[in-house]
Amino acid sequence: MLKAENVRKVFGSTVVLDGVNLSVQPGEVVSILGSSGSGKSTLIRCINGLEKLDGGRITVDEFDVSKPRELAEARKRSGTVFQLFNLYPHMTALQNITLAPIQVLQQPKAEAERKARALLAQVGLGDRGDAYPAQLSGGQRQRVGICRALAMEPRYLLLDEVTSALDPEMTADVLGILADLARGGTTMVFVTHEIEFARQISNRIVFLDKGKLVVDLPTAAFFSAKGGMAVPRIAQFLSKMRKD
Ligand SMILES: Nc1ncnc2c1ncn2[C@@H]1O[C@H](COP(=O)(O)OP(=O)(O)OP(=O)(O)O)[C@@H](O)[C@H]1O
Ligand SMILES: [Mg+2]
Repeated sequence: MLKAENVRKVFGSTVVLDGVNLSVQPGEVVSILGSSGSGKSTLIRCINGLEKLDGGRITVDEFDVSKPRELAEARKRSGTVFQLFNLYPHMTALQNITLAPIQVLQQPKAEAERKARALLAQVGLGDRGDAYPAQLSGGQRQRVGICRALAMEPRYLLLDEVTSALDPEMTADVLGILADLARGGTTMVFVTHEIEFARQISNRIVFLDKGKLVVDLPTAAFFSAKGGMAVPRIAQFLSKMRKD
């Protein structure tokens, strides 16, 4: 289980995460919604140890991200794909994907490459392994980014607005891949502004508002009149998102 307990994060005088509790069971897809600046990316960065907590605790399975000796193991279990493509520009798609499995998991190069090619084929890029990021479209790069995270065989896949920099067609491609992964049982924590998609693939939806996790509900309840929609802040957020 991935678990955040009473997590607090402060930047200067701003409280960015304020007593956040969240648990994700293996096999679940949990979407995190909330306005810009509500703390979604910060929460993801805390889960993968890129930000230090100012309070509370995050564990990935039994490994505590705040304990230096446990961080590496926690990180191995959670793969992250970010908003902006952060592939190494001087490496091919295949090299980007195999780097960590070879260096961190000590997979033999041939095995890492075989697995990487299978992942690329799974996302429709079976013939682009030797392309450099600059030779790929934004959507293709993001699909390579997803393969790179999956190559580490993470127990939890963290996705932070992976489609926000893509045009509608590429967005559809990438969301299609994520829907396949969700159906295949991949555990996901999914930060998104794609409300309808979140509704289709999520078991639960959580809503962050100014650093507080105000609602954590099964998807149907989140969108019901008596559930999430009864919270004025959420009703307002959803009506605005649907107009945009
Ligand atoms: N390194 C930092 N230093 C100072 N403030 C930061 C830092 N990172 C984030 N913040 C602030 O923390 C708050 C939450 O930011 P965060 O990026 O987590 O929001 P978000 O919910 O992901 O927003 P968006 O939907 O725009 O991506 C914002 O007010 C932001 O300005
Ligand atoms: Mg963000």
